[in-house]
Amino acid sequence: MNYSNQISEATDFLRSKAVTAPEFGVVLGTGLGKFLDYVDIEHTIDYAEIPHFPVSTVEFHKGKLIFGTIGSTKIVAMQGRFHLYEGYSLQQVTFPIRVLQKLGIKQLLLSNAAGGINKSFRKGDLVLLNDHINLQGSSPLKGLNSFEFGGIFPDMSAPYDANLNGKLHLKATELEIELKEGVYASVFGPQLETRAEYRYLGIIGADMVGMSTTPEVIVANQLKVPCAAISVITDECDPDHLKPVDIADIIATAGKADEKLSKLFYEVIQTFNS
Ligand code: HPA
Repeated sequence: MNYSNQISEATDFLRSKAVTAPEFGVVLGTGLGKFLDYVDIEHTIDYAEIPHFPVSTVEFHKGKLIFGTIGSTKIVAMQGRFHLYEGYSLQQVTFPIRVLQKLGIKQLLLSNAAGGINKSFRKGDLVLLNDHINLQGSSPLKGLNSFEFGGIFPDMSAPYDANLNGKLHLKATELEIELKEGVYASVFGPQLETRAEYRYLGIIGADMVGMSTTPEVIVANQLKVPCAAISVITDECDPDHLKPVDIADIIATAGKADEKLSKLFYEVIQTFNS
């Protein structure tokens, strides 16, 4: 079955589960899930149940779509996302974004865990993406040379929505949460970077590095879904003072920043219908 029909089947399946059309999509990154405490949950659907949906292969990545409301806004959250390093194609990685858009989302917020390249970043910082560098070696639009998927050469001059970014800054200030800004570089992974690679990433203009988000943002731009993304800095990647990191530390650090990130997302979504 072709990609387009797979997207339709997955969407039809979710509609058959009586999910109400979500207005707002949220992608929860590694170690980030407290956001769900702010949601009045109506339906939880395992990825494994949804036709053609990839299933997360890494044990600490959960795999559920959560439908519910925040105030008067209908939301859908992805608890667990897919990564290139798991062996999926970028088309599979971004399959859920196409399904969410077909279900009706008007805006999208994403989060991720990232290494801090910018030397002023500290573990636990929240950093709003103001641009990105895709170093994953491919594109989620590869081979989709048909307008049914959106424009073939989507503009990427402003991939992160200025209006959403503005709201995130405003709410962060109100909540007294420090929100930095930076450029996110996405790499293939799953290995972390060498000192030379961290140095290189700094030289080419990256402030943080991770293994996700850019494919989803490229597709959201193709589909004209305004999006914004926040990184939680989970490790400091100064090549001259690099300490070994392990994934358990990364997840624990993300967990510590989870509450402030979740509150920020919650407050911004609250403004959607007001
Ligand atoms: N590199 C790549 N991905 C990451 C890192 C990192 O240092 N930290 C969290 N995700």
